[in-house]
Amino acid sequence: MAGGALFRAQCATCHGADGKGILSIDAPDLTLMWGRDGVNDEYVFNVVRDGIPGSIMPPHGFGETEIWMLVAFMASLVEFGGDADFMGDAGNGRRLFAENCAECHRAGEEAGGVLGPSLTGITLRRAPDALVQSIREPSGRIERGFRPVTVETGIGESVTGVLKNEDAFSLQLVTEDQSLRAFHRIGVRQITRLGESLMPVFSEADLDADELADLLAFLHGNQ
Ligand code: HEC
Ligand code: HEC
Repeated sequence: MAGGALFRAQCATCHGADGKGILSIDAPDLTLMWGRDGVNDEYVFNVVRDGIPGSIMPPHGFGETEIWMLVAFMASLVEFGGDADFMGDAGNGRRLFAENCAECHRAGEEAGGVLGPSLTGITLRRAPDALVQSIREPSGRIERGFRPVTVETGIGESVTGVLKNEDAFSLQLVTEDQSLRAFHRIGVRQITRLGESLMPVFSEADLDADELADLLAFLHGNQ
């Protein structure tokens, strides 16, 4: 993986080839940062680009693509709890998924919507705590490709959805009713970037801890 090669060349001298740090150098274990408040892909991207002033963590002049590859590589270094972390009732999880989540997500063979990312194999990419956080506080960390926006067109139409792509001339959304729409910038009056995820918050009252464990067990079985 290109991100891995870059990491070994540019970062391993301080953070170790496995990202877990080197005893003789005071650089953090990068596998532990993900669960921390405020740490998301954007944060990591910015740290790599800008460095950390006042520390030996240097800024890096890579292109955006390289930095995103590094971010993905660092995410892939995380060791998740084994199957023991997913001991809920997967059968009940499947039912809860169909009722609460499938409107916007797919998982494995389960049919579902496309407003949110596919959750197939998600328990291999993200730690259980981080998943719980995404379900309890969806706005805390919003993936690229799923950022919410409202587009107002010159003819007075207003469309909300998640931003898939944008360039100098056009942008593409998956709208709230889950259709793909493309807009020419010339016909767009205003684009508002929304702070709140289009995913609803699931509080304790909506899904208690046992139900969350069941959902995670179901997702773990859908790789
Ligand atoms: C010269 C040593 C050095 C190099 C090279 C280096 N880092 Fe760091 N890095 C550090 C140190 C030290 C910190 C902690 C700084 C602080 O918080 O005061 C850090 C912090 C970080 C953090 C934030 C960790 C957290 O818990 O918030 C990330 C992410 C990171 N580095 C990624 C990288 C990547 C990716 C590269 C290569 C492109 C890289 N670093 C290269 C020394 C280095
Ligand atoms: C109305 C649509 C909608 C519903 C219903 C919904 N989600 Fe989401 N979900 C999203 C969107 C949009 C995102 C991407 C933005 C974000 O991260 O908040 C997302 C993101 C996520 C993520 C983060 C994925 C990642 O790659 O990091 C997880 C985990 C998740 N949802 C789980 C669930 C679960 C479990 C349920 C059911 C209990 C659920 N979602 C219900 C729309 C929805």
